[in-house]
Amino acid sequence: MVAATKPARAAVIGGGVIGGGWVARLIQNGVDVGIFDPDPEAPRKINDVMANADHAVRRLTMAPLPARGHIRFADSIAEAAKDAELIVEAVPERLDIKQTVYAQIEAAAPTDAVISSSTSGILPSDLQAQMQHPERLLVGHPFNPVYLLPLVELVGGARTAAATLDRAAAFFAGIGMHPLRIRKEIEAFVADRFLEAVWREALWLVKDGIATTEEIDDAIRYGFGLRWAQMGLFETYRVAGGEAGMAHFIAQFGPCLKWPWTKLMDVPDLTDELVKTISDQSDAQSGRHSIRELERIRDDNLVAILQALKANDWGAGQTVANWEKSLYDAVPARRQQAIDGPLETMRQQVPSDWTDYNGHMNEARYLDCFSMATDAVMRWIGVDAAYLANGGSYFTVETHIRHLDEVRAGSEIFATSQVLLGEGKKMQLFHHLYAVEADGASRLLATGEHMLIHVDMTSRSASLPEDSVAARLATLAQAHASLPHPDGAGRAIGGGN
Ligand SMILES: NC(=O)c1ccc[n+]([C@@H]2O[C@H](COP(=O)([O-])OP(=O)(O)OC[C@H]3O[C@@H](n4cnc5c(N)ncnc54)[C@H](O)[C@@H]3O)[C@@H](O)[C@H]2O)c1
Repeated sequence: MVAATKPARAAVIGGGVIGGGWVARLIQNGVDVGIFDPDPEAPRKINDVMANADHAVRRLTMAPLPARGHIRFADSIAEAAKDAELIVEAVPERLDIKQTVYAQIEAAAPTDAVISSSTSGILPSDLQAQMQHPERLLVGHPFNPVYLLPLVELVGGARTAAATLDRAAAFFAGIGMHPLRIRKEIEAFVADRFLEAVWREALWLVKDGIATTEEIDDAIRYGFGLRWAQMGLFETYRVAGGEAGMAHFIAQFGPCLKWPWTKLMDVPDLTDELVKTISDQSDAQSGRHSIRELERIRDDNLVAILQALKANDWGAGQTVANWEKSLYDAVPARRQQAIDGPLETMRQQVPSDWTDYNGHMNEARYLDCFSMATDAVMRWIGVDAAYLANGGSYFTVETHIRHLDEVRAGSEIFATSQVLLGEGKKMQLFHHLYAVEADGASRLLATGEHMLIHVDMTSRSASLPEDSVAARLATLAQAHASLPHPDGAGRAIGGGN
C-alpha cells in the first residue's frame, strides 16, 4: 500500500465527459487544475459536469471538503501542463491523437510529472512508443462519472517505471479513488473486457428478438446487478455454492459454459437496421428523460448505494469512508500552532441543499457544523484515522445547542472550539458558529456544548485515551483554562447558568 497524497497541481488535457469528470474530482479535493481543450464549448461542458458533481458530492459526504481548487483554462497543452505534478490525458480514443498530445506535454511538463492516459483500451506500450521519457506514462482508466466512482485501473507499459505506478496510485488514492493495479497489459484491461463480453451478448439478444433494451436492463438491475455492485462475480458465486463453496459451484455450473448458450466470440454486424432497432427501443425506454435528468438519477442512485456500502463497511463504501477520514484529518485546526485562543475548527459555505423552505440553514445542520468542529478537535489531539483504526475514539454523550441567528445558503460560516474539560475519559467542548458578513465582521449564529467520552471501540465501553492523546488534550485544556468562560456554557434549556 502506497500512502495517499494529493498532487500539488494537476493538468487535464481534453475536457469532454471523462476530462470534465477528472476536473470535478480534482478541484473538489482541493487540487488546482490547468485544462486544455480546443473546443470553444469546453468551458460550458465542464461547468455542466461540475454542477452534477457538486450536486452528487454534497449528498455523498458531510466531511469537510477542502477549499476548492482553481480551474485555469489554458490556451495550449504546454500552458496547462507546464507546472503540473499529475497530467491526465482524456482526448478522443485514437492512438495518433494521443501520441501527438504526449509530444506537446513532454515539451513543456516537468520531467518528473506523471502522465496518465484515460484510454479505455489502448495498450500503454503503444501509447508511450514515441515518447522521450516513456517511463512516466501509465494508463489510469477511470469510470464515468469520474467524480463518484472510485475505481481507476492502473496499467503500466513495457517502459513504465515502477515508481510512476506508485506515485500515480498515491495521487489517485489522495483524491478518494481506489487504484487497482492490473498485473499485465492487455487491450481493454480488466473491466472493459468484461463489459464488452456482456455488451456483445446483449446485442445478440436484441438482434435475435429475444429481449428489448429495457428487458435486458431490467434483467440486470432487478437482480444480479445489485449483487455485482457489492460483491462482484466470484464472491457472489462463492456464496451461491452454499456451504460446499466455490469448488462445488464450479463443478455444478462449470460444464454449462460449454453448452452453446453464448455467442461470445461472435459480434453481430452493426447494420443500420440493428442500430435503428436499438435506438428506437432505447427511446421508448428512456426518451422521456433528458440526458441531464438521467445523469442526476444515476448519480443520486450511486450516492445512495455508496452510502449504504459505507454503512456496511464494505467494498466501494470503504473507499468513501477512508476518503472522509482523510478529509477530517486535514482540517485546519490540526495545523494550527497557537492554542492560546479557541481553535478554528470548520469553515465553509452554506450549501443550497442545507436550507429549509425559508431559505435559511436547517436547524439539523447546526449540529452537523458542530459535529465537524468536534471532529477537528479530535484530530488536533491525535484521534486521527490511524488512532480510529486502532480502536479508540470519543463518542458524544450529551449536546446543548443554542440557535441564536439565521443564515442563508451561500454565506461563509466558520466555527471556533474551546476545551472546557479534558481529563480522564471526558472531553467537554464549547463551539461558537459564526457567519462572515459582507464587511468581514463575524456574526454569532449558534453555540454548541458537548460532552464526549473516550471509548474502546472493540469492547464498546468507556476507556482512557492513549497517553499521547491524553497529553495533547491536557495541553489544550490547560491553554484554554485561562480563556473567559463562554456565555451560555453549562446552561439548561430555557434556564440561566
Ligand atoms: N466515456 C466513457 O465512459 C469513458 C470511460 C473511461 C475512459 N474513457 C476514455 O477517456 C477518453 C476521453 O473520452 P470521452 O468520453 O471523455 O470523450 P469526449 O469526446 O467526451 O471528450 C474528448 C475531448 O477531447 C477534446 N480534444 C480533442 N482533441 C484534443 C486535443 N488535441 N487536445 C485536447 N483536447 C482535445 C475534445 O474537444 C473533447 O472535448 C478516451 O480515451 C476514452 O476511451 C471514456
